[in-house]
Amino acid sequence: MRQSIVMGNWKMNGSRSEGIELANAIIAGLNDGDKGIAVCVPSVYLSDIEAVVKNTPLALGGQNVADHESGAYTGEISAFMLKECGCTYALVGHSERRTYYGDTNESVAARFCQAQKEGIIPVLCIGETLEERESDTTFAVIDEQLNAVIHMAGIDALANSVIAYEPVWAIGTGKTASDEQAQEVHKYIRQQIAAKSQAIADNVQIVYGGSVKPGNAKAIFAMPDIDGGLIGGASLDATSFLAIYKAI
Ligand code: 13P
Repeated sequence: MRQSIVMGNWKMNGSRSEGIELANAIIAGLNDGDKGIAVCVPSVYLSDIEAVVKNTPLALGGQNVADHESGAYTGEISAFMLKECGCTYALVGHSERRTYYGDTNESVAARFCQAQKEGIIPVLCIGETLEERESDTTFAVIDEQLNAVIHMAGIDALANSVIAYEPVWAIGTGKTASDEQAQEVHKYIRQQIAAKSQAIADNVQIVYGGSVKPGNAKAIFAMPDIDGGLIGGASLDATSFLAIYKAI
């Protein structure tokens, strides 16, 4: 039985005090034994939020990680630095990174490997654009994004990762993939992994992201191959985020 997980991605939102307040409000709604909940926060506030989440069920993540270990890479944040700031997770390959900042399948795979080298669980974000969906290339895009990582890291590396399927057209648009559309791609991803390792396919968490709200979370999470969610907008409000977590 796979453990489900709900992760918030705060993106570039809020201030230090708002982040601290939000993390505290989320924790206030959790019970001691709760598991499978995390927030990926702006890197400059990681240490502030680390102090809040320490010894609570709320885990911490970065929103990206460098594709090199250390050195002359101005503006990048290494996996070691994330680890020092208390991160359990790091997003890699979020579509906003791929679209606006030129992250490629190869650099995403390198980020994935760097995270794992430091014992950080990479959350590999994959998903098609609207144009790709409409031209029936969704599965081909998923194959390319997934295979780049398998090629560099090896299939066994997926055992210590989370995969987030986030159709680009559903992010921040209010247009969620239907439960069946999401399930279809999650099932495909799991089948592709199963072709290389059934055990890893059975255990890897594959979460859905794209306009998940308290009102639609339960139906999405009920799908057999959907193991939780990566939540953007609705994770900025503790009540909504907790309602989504409780929908699992
Ligand atoms: P929204 O939930 O705002 O659509 O964002 C999804 C996302 O990009 C999470 O990483």
